[in-house]
Amino acid sequence: MYKNKMVVLEAKENILITGGCGFIGSNFIRKYIGRNINIFNVDDLTYAGNLENLKEIEEKENYHFFKGKIQDKEFIKQILIENNIDSIINFAAESHVDRSIIDSAPFIETNIKGTSVLLDLTREFNIKKYVQVSTDEVYGSLGEIGKFTELTPISPNSPYSASKASADHLVMAYVHTYGINAMITRCSNNYGPFQFPEKLIPLMIMNALNNKELPVYGDGMNVRDWIHVDDHCSGIWAVYQNGKSGESYNIGSDTEKTNIEIVKLILNILGKPESLIKYVKDRPGHDRRYAMDSSKIQELLGWKAVINFDEGIKNTVEWYLNNLDWCNRIIDGSYMEYYNLQYGNN
Ligand code: NAD
Ligand code: DAU
Repeated sequence: MYKNKMVVLEAKENILITGGCGFIGSNFIRKYIGRNINIFNVDDLTYAGNLENLKEIEEKENYHFFKGKIQDKEFIKQILIENNIDSIINFAAESHVDRSIIDSAPFIETNIKGTSVLLDLTREFNIKKYVQVSTDEVYGSLGEIGKFTELTPISPNSPYSASKASADHLVMAYVHTYGINAMITRCSNNYGPFQFPEKLIPLMIMNALNNKELPVYGDGMNVRDWIHVDDHCSGIWAVYQNGKSGESYNIGSDTEKTNIEIVKLILNILGKPESLIKYVKDRPGHDRRYAMDSSKIQELLGWKAVINFDEGIKNTVEWYLNNLDWCNRIIDGSYMEYYNLQYGNN
């Protein structure tokens, strides 16, 4: 007897990724584009967003790009409707603390207004899941001991972190008030390929390679808790898959380093002299120390960082050495204008 077999085709999830042309978003898309999902990437291509970051996957049939702003409600609405979007992961942000000190306006626009637009549309269109990519900086600054847990009070100190904290509060308010299904990830400092060279690690690599001074703020003893971007991405994916609505999840890898340690390590890897180091005026309101307790995501979602820092940093330096063309292409006139404003008077 011949039996009819029913073939059940599993529908692919349609995920809207915002800010996918930036550092972390592009690493995330490259890592997960091979899964059974469709990715719809919305990015405004600010100075920090580059189409080139996704060149190797841009032809894939399950990848789609849209240029525009997350705070443009009509534009995002069209994308949700036309592509039957199931879920949103919001990476898009103005992300650099020093720029937020020079001018906070774009941070308010993108990080707060943009998030509020995405949340309104999540509610209106019954989006099944919303993940907000946030930061440990919303917790403020630590003294010499202790770590941030998810219960640490939100206490941001810079215009950047205040804008991210506002967005986090909006997410939780929308869960509480409207019952949307949303969660927050909070990660520590990322390093790895495709990071815009305004941030500490790529800036120091590029300056050292060009025998330029390495500007270290204050006494160089501020501490950051470093994690490879690939580990951050797997943490976001774990939360996207199994996170619980209304919860936030810290993501870190227990790798505390002073800034001066990082700078000296980079010089050492590159075989450059420490005489290139220049201590400069401190960042106003500079947070002294960040350290993450990520036991919640480890225990509840089975996630763990797997990249060892010494290996990760060597590979990152090597990546920059092999991609100097990329760096030189993305450093344009507007970046040099920013650089001179930031470091010119030191
Ligand atoms: P990034 O600056 O490299 O990238 C941001 C991306 O967002 C860019 O592609 C930019 O073009 C895009 N964008 C900016 N404004 C936009 C707008 N209005 N509409 C659409 N797109 C817009 O930042 P990143 O380092 O990749 O950070 C990504 C996210 O992760 C941010 O939300 C940031 O707060 C968070 N985060 C970063 C770190 C880190 O160490 N870099 C750590 C924790 C959390
Ligand atoms: O902790 C997570 C955050 O990490 C993210 O939310 C931010 O988006 C990301 O930019 C990063 O913020 P930081 O301010 O910690 O990163 P940044 O690379 O700018 O600086 C790291 C440390 O190095 C900080 O203590 C300031 C110091 N620094 C930075 C620069 C650019 C210097 O001493 N000299 C510099 O020129």
